[in-house]
Amino acid sequence: MTQAKKLYIKTYGCQMNVYDSERMAEALGGQGYVETSSPEDADMILLNTCHIREKAAEKVYSELGRFKGLKAAKPELKIGVAGCVAQAEGEEIMRRQPMVDLVVGPQSYHRLPELEARAGAGQKALDTDFPVEDKFDHLSDRPKAKRGPTAFLTVQEGCDKFCAFCVVPYTRGAEVSRPAARVLAEARDLVERGVREITLLGQNVNAYHGAGPDGDWGLARLIRELAKIDGLERIRYTTSHPNDMGDDLIAAHGEVAELMPYLHLPVQSGSDRILKRMNRSHTAEQYLRLIERIRAARPDILLSGDFIVGFPEETEADFQATLALVEAVRYGQCYSFKYSPRPGTPAAERALVDEAEASERLQRLQALLSRQQAEIQAAMVGREVGVLFEKPGRLDGQLVGKSDHLHAVHAQAPEALLGRIARVKIVDSAPNSLAGVVLDA
Ligand code: 5AD
Ligand code: SF4
Repeated sequence: MTQAKKLYIKTYGCQMNVYDSERMAEALGGQGYVETSSPEDADMILLNTCHIREKAAEKVYSELGRFKGLKAAKPELKIGVAGCVAQAEGEEIMRRQPMVDLVVGPQSYHRLPELEARAGAGQKALDTDFPVEDKFDHLSDRPKAKRGPTAFLTVQEGCDKFCAFCVVPYTRGAEVSRPAARVLAEARDLVERGVREITLLGQNVNAYHGAGPDGDWGLARLIRELAKIDGLERIRYTTSHPNDMGDDLIAAHGEVAELMPYLHLPVQSGSDRILKRMNRSHTAEQYLRLIERIRAARPDILLSGDFIVGFPEETEADFQATLALVEAVRYGQCYSFKYSPRPGTPAAERALVDEAEASERLQRLQALLSRQQAEIQAAMVGREVGVLFEKPGRLDGQLVGKSDHLHAVHAQAPEALLGRIARVKIVDSAPNSLAGVVLDA
């Protein structure tokens, strides 16, 4: 028997990249690769890159530089770059780092086996097309390996919103939804393999409009059908745009027990002037009314968001409007960033606000967000929540998992509860986790 080739994948960025890396590992499994956690052992190194953070491409080039020694010692080692930096940089990657054998954009992963074969034959392999077919179509012949209790499932990709700061419409391309039957089949397969919680992924997941047997399905319909799968106990989805938060989806939050009370709904800024310049096409007031309607459907829903401070032309008054919006919403969890220009986006041409000023605003915003997060976590103490235990905790006899509201919870619990949902009473709150006591072991 020939020895299995070893694949080392390093994943950067969002959950969709995590999902894509799993699919790529499965696809390359069909080519005789098994995964390794050490690049030194690898026959192929694949960087699944992210373009959202500052100087993303430069960081990939320096990461690649670190593999030069490995490649020199083992010339048959293949080095590949996937993900959004691969899409954005394309051929430039092979020009600047000639040791790279393979460059594949996020919409071309179904061509990975073919690209690997080309690279194996000593050719340079590059694919950054936006093909029309489903990139997961040909990646589905995977072994039925047992899975952990939680999984991501990509249902939609790309974005047509063109927020002025964002590279996603350029790197992930136009908005495309996977057909409903395919999503349902993949979900059933995951459940058969032990998954209890599925997070539906999409850059604009609530814009989902996949073909169904009776016309296009929106995300709400998809969630209602997924909820009927026996053994699928929890459903989440991320990331959503306020303008695609339809009445049916809001209603589903009140009606579908499996749909967890957590919603990531980025607003980016609380100033209408800045929202307009960001091309967000909604106002702060519209966002706040939307939150009210969502909370009317599901009063205990925990909201999370993304914010950008120091966007071009942001004044102290604009920033105050952001703080006021945060005060009004009360978020359970947020990500906040200082604006930084992404080449090729409209905002990249605009004058920057003073760096020190932007940093100071970010600190003030983060102080407020941390305070809100701590208050909301503290308010969980004494409450009973469902916890899906995922793995052993740091202490003996401890398990950790996520609550319905996506809080990390640890508790003394028998191993038999791994992969199961238990009722847990929250007894303490630390900065990034809650402590609980299992009620019905
Ligand atoms: N500068 C700062 N933050 C950005 N984000 C996206 N592009 C930029 C940028 N150019 C943030 C947004 C988005 C999150 C994923 O990353 O808040 O919602
Ligand atoms: Fe980027 Fe999200 Fe705006 Fe689309 S909606 S352009 S992914 S920030």
